[in-house]
Amino acid sequence: TRLVILISGRGSNMRSIIEAIDAQQIDATVSAVISNRPDAAGLDYAKAQSIATAVVDHKTFSDRDSFDKALAERIDDYKPDFVILAGFMRILTSGFVEHYRNKLINIHPSLLPKFKGLNTHQRAIDAGEKEHGASVHFVTAELDDGPVIMQAKVNILADDSAESLAARVLDQEHQLYPAAIQKLVNSKQD
Ligand code: GRF
Repeated sequence: TRLVILISGRGSNMRSIIEAIDAQQIDATVSAVISNRPDAAGLDYAKAQSIATAVVDHKTFSDRDSFDKALAERIDDYKPDFVILAGFMRILTSGFVEHYRNKLINIHPSLLPKFKGLNTHQRAIDAGEKEHGASVHFVTAELDDGPVIMQAKVNILADDSAESLAARVLDQEHQLYPAAIQKLVNSKQD
């Protein structure tokens, strides 16, 4: 099973996936890591692991359609079975999403369908939620929508800040994303 991982920054989820593959917890290979930002820190880690990397810089395109077309061409060079969004901070066009139907996966830091979009941790605290977490889901044209594959929960503590809560959710993400990908890989092999 071939994976292409898309990142925009830190890439800690990407790293957890690569580590799980190295530990033989996921039966897959990362064919490439692609970033829309040339300075994404995660690119350095991927290079150090001898994984192919590429940059498709959205700032060099005049509109979303041309960016998504160039991104898809680059992804398709690697013929992936799944395209894994891991902190990839661009909204994708419906044409792009359709091109990867049932293959495009995202992780979002909330218990979807709650708290789509940004600042999920602060919004969960402000809403008085007792639980929060992360969701791995198939990507559809609607932002942070699409069928949920797996979720992980954390309790919200009385003294939580957005930062402390984000850190506990991120720990869970690093378990959840590899587990969800392995589930997909297994279902593909059945
Ligand atoms: C994670 O919280 C993920 O859920 C969200 O963006 C963050 C990416 O972090 N979509 P990283 O780049 O994987 O470290």
